[in-house]
Amino acid sequence: MLPIDLHNRRALVAGVADDVGFGFAIAKALAEAGASVSLTVWPPAMGIFETLLRRGKLDESRRLSDGRMLEFEHIYPMDAAFDTAEDVPEDVRTSRRYSERGDVSIRGMAERWRSDFGADSLDVLVHSLANGPEVQKLLLDTSRKGYLAALAVSSFSLTSMVRHLGPLMRRGGSVLSLTYMASERVIPGYGGGMSSAKAALESDTRFLALQAGRRFGLRVNTISAGPVATRAASVTGMIDEVVDYCEINAPLPEKLQTHEVANVAAFLASPLASGITGTTIYVDKGFHAMGKALGPKDTFEEKA
Ligand SMILES: NC(=O)c1ccc[n+]([C@@H]2O[C@H](COP(=O)([O-])OP(=O)(O)OC[C@H]3O[C@@H](n4cnc5c(N)ncnc54)[C@H](O)[C@@H]3O)[C@@H](O)[C@H]2O)c1
Repeated sequence: MLPIDLHNRRALVAGVADDVGFGFAIAKALAEAGASVSLTVWPPAMGIFETLLRRGKLDESRRLSDGRMLEFEHIYPMDAAFDTAEDVPEDVRTSRRYSERGDVSIRGMAERWRSDFGADSLDVLVHSLANGPEVQKLLLDTSRKGYLAALAVSSFSLTSMVRHLGPLMRRGGSVLSLTYMASERVIPGYGGGMSSAKAALESDTRFLALQAGRRFGLRVNTISAGPVATRAASVTGMIDEVVDYCEINAPLPEKLQTHEVANVAAFLASPLASGITGTTIYVDKGFHAMGKALGPKDTFEEKA
C-alpha cells in the first residue's frame, strides 16, 4: 500500500465559501489524508459561509469516509486584493462586511496564522480563488482597471501569499493553485483578462518553484482543472456550455467532479510528490490533449 499520509500536517486552503467549489473538495481530501485544515474566506462571503456551517447545511458534505466530520481548525477572513492593511481603502475597511473582521489583508492573515500556530507550522498552502470583475466582457472591451483587478486577485495574490506565508511553512511543504486552460487556448466567454491572469499564474508557478524552493524548501505547482459549474465559474455565464462541450469531446466522456481534482491536490501535498515542482498538471479528463471537436464519424470501436 502506498498511502497519501498527511497526518501531523497543517493545511491552509484559501478561497472557500460553499461546498461546491474546488477549495472545499480539496480541504476535504486533505482532511481525509489526515491533515488539519484551516480556511480563508473572502469577507463578503464570510457571513453566508458561517451561516451555512452554523445551520448544518454543509454537514452532509463535511462527512468524511470514516464517519468523522470535516472540521476547520481556523477560518480567517482574507481579501486577496490587499497585501497589507494600508492597502485596504477606507470605504472598504469601514463597510458592513469588513468593519468587524480586523486586518483582512494577506499579511494580516499571515500574522494571525503566526500568532495562532507560530513559525514552522504550515505544510500545505492551497490558493483556490479568482475574481475578474469584467469576466463577462471580451478581452478586447476590458478596461485597464478590470484587467488589473483580475490579475491582482487571481494571480499576484499567489506570489503575495507565498511571500507572507512562506516563512511560516515547514521545509518540504507544498503550494498549489488552480488554473484553467484558457491561459493557453481561446475559450470564448472567459473574458475580462481572466485568461491573462491564468497565464500569469502558470508562469509565476514556475518562477515561485525556483525561488520558494531555494528560499523556503517548498514545492509550487498548479492544477489545470477542467470546467465545473461552481459559483465563480457560473459568473462567466457560459460554464454549462463549456462543461457539456468537454463531456462530449474529452478522451474520458464524463463530467469532471471536484473530488477528482482534490485527490490530485492531496497527492501533490504529500511526500509522494516530493519530486514535482514548477508544474501545471491537467486534471480535465484529458480534454487539453484534443485539437478538434469530435464528429459523427469519430467512433472508437474496432472495425471488423
Ligand atoms: N470552476 C471551474 O470550471 C474552474 C476550472 C479551472 C480552474 N478553476 C479555478 O479554481 C479556483 C477556485 O474556483 P472555483 O471554480 O472552485 O469557484 P469558487 O467560487 O468555489 O471559488 C472561488 C473563491 O474565490 C473567492 N474570492 C473571490 N474574490 C476574492 C478575493 N478578492 N479575495 C479572496 N477570495 C476571493 C470566492 O469567495 C470563492 O470562495 C479558481 O482559481 C478558479 O479560477 C475553476
